[in-house]
Amino acid sequence: MERPIGMFDSGFGGLTVARALIDLLPAEDLVYIGDTGRYPYGSKPLDDVRDYARELAWSLVDDYDAKAVVVACNTATAAGLDELRAELPVPVVDVIRPGARALVATTTTGRVGVIGTVGTVSSGAYIRAVAEMGVPVSLASAACPGFVEFVERGQTTGDEVMVLAERLLAPIVDADVDSLLLGCTHYPFLARTIGDVMGPNVTLVSSADETAFAVRDRLDESGLLRAVAGASSVPRGRHRFASSGDIEVFRDLGGRLLGPELDQTEPWPPAAP
Ligand code: DGL
Repeated sequence: MERPIGMFDSGFGGLTVARALIDLLPAEDLVYIGDTGRYPYGSKPLDDVRDYARELAWSLVDDYDAKAVVVACNTATAAGLDELRAELPVPVVDVIRPGARALVATTTTGRVGVIGTVGTVSSGAYIRAVAEMGVPVSLASAACPGFVEFVERGQTTGDEVMVLAERLLAPIVDADVDSLLLGCTHYPFLARTIGDVMGPNVTLVSSADETAFAVRDRLDESGLLRAVAGASSVPRGRHRFASSGDIEVFRDLGGRLLGPELDQTEPWPPAAP
């Protein structure tokens, strides 16, 4: 019996990471929990977010037998990664370090930016992650309260998003960066608007692909990567999605955002066996 990769986010944002993971490792089984019943995380005290993250991560291990946990949420990573790594019996992959790596690899001028939730930006997690890499870059950061709510409502383009983006991104535009990391997993869904505001000379960097590579490497190192017989007969993994909020809303909007793999949603927490 193959064990799935478990992942979670406050809502729909982690689907950007799920998409990259499904594309990179199509044979792996996946369980995704969107905590839409308690979103947003970004405006909540980090202590509360840490409690949610521990509850979700342990549920992935205990209820779904996950062989690894992907914290597909920057805010939850900033709040609780160290605790999750210390206490979970499976490998834990976050989105902040992979994102920071991708950002530093992209810049040519050394002037970079990161945007995220209030919780992520005020935690200083990206400043630490970039500093740990020892690459001399100057990092401008800005919190973007309101972006996540637009995505959760399924409103990813339009005048209202544009007006908010112009206001919130102004300090990053002023910092004259050449690369901007979308340091919240919801933000790639707003990439068109963010890209329009930043202009054609700024490269938008998402942590999704880099995180998927990190998951593959961690599974490989731990001997947990699903063995695939021959390239021509790759079995498709089973993809399960669960939500602590309205499961029909999650299925409908999630399916639009992720694609056809998300055609059903189960309630979380799961019913006791
Ligand atoms: N998607 C989450 C992140 O990456 C947070 C969204 C929220 O505020 O709930 O930070």
